[in-house]
Amino acid sequence: MAKKTVADISVKGRKVLMRCDFNVPLDDQCNITSDDRIVKALPTIKNILDRGGAVILMSHLGRPAGERDDKLSLAPVARRLSELLGLEVVFAGDCVGEDVRAKAKALKSGDCMLLENLRFHKEETIKDKAAKEDAQLRQAKDDFAKQLADLADIYVDDAFGTAHRDNASMYTVPQMMKGKPRVIGFLIEKELKFLGDTVSNPEKPFVAILGGAKVSDKIRVIENLLDKVDRLLIGGAMAYTFFKAEGRAVGKSLCEDDFLDKATGLLERAKDVGCEMVLPVDTVVAKEFQWHGLPARENTAKMAVSHKIVSGNIDADWQGMDIGPKTRKLFAKKLSDAKTIVWNGPMGVFEMPPFDQGTKAVALAVAEATDKGARSVIGGGDSASAVEKLDLQDRISHISTGGGASLEFLEGKKFVCLEILDEK
Ligand code: 3PG
Ligand code: MG
Repeated sequence: MAKKTVADISVKGRKVLMRCDFNVPLDDQCNITSDDRIVKALPTIKNILDRGGAVILMSHLGRPAGERDDKLSLAPVARRLSELLGLEVVFAGDCVGEDVRAKAKALKSGDCMLLENLRFHKEETIKDKAAKEDAQLRQAKDDFAKQLADLADIYVDDAFGTAHRDNASMYTVPQMMKGKPRVIGFLIEKELKFLGDTVSNPEKPFVAILGGAKVSDKIRVIENLLDKVDRLLIGGAMAYTFFKAEGRAVGKSLCEDDFLDKATGLLERAKDVGCEMVLPVDTVVAKEFQWHGLPARENTAKMAVSHKIVSGNIDADWQGMDIGPKTRKLFAKKLSDAKTIVWNGPMGVFEMPPFDQGTKAVALAVAEATDKGARSVIGGGDSASAVEKLDLQDRISHISTGGGASLEFLEGKKFVCLEILDEK
């Protein structure tokens, strides 16, 4: 059944506690380097304010160790939000406590307040499994959640990027607010619709592209997609585990020896279910140098000096860094007639040119297929930033705001914090 959204409830004169994912990238001066996640929360926030509600926003930022860390304050987000909304967002110096309660109480219709980073309190990230087994942890998580829950009349969850977590603000707070409206916002609604429709009702051919460093990270995604997709293109370092499983030499490339059997099993299962698994046919390899005394980044810059393209085996001392030019063409061809595309994970070490060429070529091929009418969905994280770097975001149907969350969605997992919210 579909979840109730904020559009289904009356907010006039009421206080709305809204969980967002304002986990934005910051530079070392604490400047926001991409406000994408803030911008994408605006439709829900504005909708509530325009209809006479008052909004209390809450989020995490980074992974502080359960205590205050000024570098991870949400103050820059409050400033950016004030600019984007054109109103003064009240910023609370904490997320719980007397001052927060007083500020929340004083809010009038159309007012917006942002609480400080939830993860400055260790209770926020207590896992529910741990809380079930330990009464003290249960009490701590519940007490913290209760303080948040008591601030408002309505709960809205619009934090798709955090939807795979059972943090107190996502899971315990809505449970504490039982009897009051508990709904999703427009961002989560859109993410669920795009990701859900794409996987459950794809127009064929359906092509998935998976990359990134580890097969182990993507096994469940591959297993879940194998009998849904027509083709599965594998790039990134995870391809080398498949190479080795096929009996090819991988030199010094990243390779998960513990997963060779699993990789063989996946290749076999793909054959059984009629899914075409496409592995790279050539690889850009680099030689590893030991430049003692140089920082790691300069080390790898030196590696770029000595690189070449190989097909077949990768010699000892050489390391796979990207898919080669023939593979880029092959992958583009396999995408050219696609009607549905899902992409998660870069094809190579894309943050280090010239090993960004494979990821760029795939991004372009996805955009071109989309121009021709394909529906394309890109999981957040690295593939999303590659697309943004190339300024191709307008030629992709949907770029998820969730990295880990979109991956877990593609694994077919259920999000417990969404399951407990109100249904239509
Ligand atoms: C993310 O950026 O992936 C989300 O904000 C979740 O953050 P987390 O992985 O630290 O829970
Ligand atoms: Mg993450």
